[in-house]
Amino acid sequence: MNDDNRYRWPHRHLLDVTQLSREDVARLLGLAASFQEINRRPVKKVPTLKGKTVILFFAEDSTRTKTSFDIAGKRLSADTYSLSKTGSSLNKGESLKDTGLTLQAMGPDVLVLRHSSSGAAEYLADRLSCAVVNGGDGWHAHPTQALLDCFSLRGVWGDNFVGRTLLILGDIAHSRVARSNVRLLTLLGVNVRICAPRTLLPAGVETWPVEVFTDLGRAARGVDAVMCLRLQLERQQAGLLPDLAEYSRRFCLGAEHLALAAPEARVLHPGPLNRGLEIADDIADASASLVLDQVSSGVAIRMAVLYLLAMRNDGEKT
Ligand code: CP
Repeated sequence: MNDDNRYRWPHRHLLDVTQLSREDVARLLGLAASFQEINRRPVKKVPTLKGKTVILFFAEDSTRTKTSFDIAGKRLSADTYSLSKTGSSLNKGESLKDTGLTLQAMGPDVLVLRHSSSGAAEYLADRLSCAVVNGGDGWHAHPTQALLDCFSLRGVWGDNFVGRTLLILGDIAHSRVARSNVRLLTLLGVNVRICAPRTLLPAGVETWPVEVFTDLGRAARGVDAVMCLRLQLERQQAGLLPDLAEYSRRFCLGAEHLALAAPEARVLHPGPLNRGLEIADDIADASASLVLDQVSSGVAIRMAVLYLLAMRNDGEKT
């Protein structure tokens, strides 16, 4: 927790980790730690956001992000409402702008948006008076995922991020999780490596503050953690990966790769997992795996995000 009484959360929205300072991240992680304590109690509910309204507008599929924002809001006693593309008037052709304005007219304090288009959350934030949280937009950003990943790593590393090495492995090109994690972890002083087949490296990767590998055996050497990414076949053009068996043979994280990493190395994956394709079954379930811890961290981090935005914007619509 940031103990500096002069610190004040400065952001009206949470759209991308690029807007966060180290101080903001420390505040979020510290607050999440205090909410994690509430999450371990037999009665997991406090009245902190009683009377606040949170709308979860998920125009793209989600299990973890949507459920954990819903639980996070409810644990803080906010009223939460969910809207998906299926069953909403988006399916009748209503625009994102009109759907956003319609939801805003119902008086939410916070709107969480997931959308397949990069920039969708910023587009609504520019048009709505309530706080907007980016719950994942296209390939662009997934700020609460990167924050929860940091929170899980903090559970292992403490506050000692500087000089650690993390490998992000897999479909980097289509991954908002990779983009947000590279930005957030490098801000915290972590050395980031990425490893993928050349066709799944993003355009402009040479400008990223990372070491780039196409050989998993070399990339895994000495790392403190490996973050596997889901192969996003639904976002890929035909021909990027002609042979999934060959991909799995070269890029699926297995025990032989983890043996090359640092002795206490941990494994992360944002989920959902393609077991046997990007992560071996036994590695996903191994004691080194933080996969389910990441899910728990997601509730605590999203409680912190809802708290900071709902309280900051209380009577302060700028
Ligand atoms: N990691 C993540 O965003 O998972 P969901 O798509 O299930 O929300």
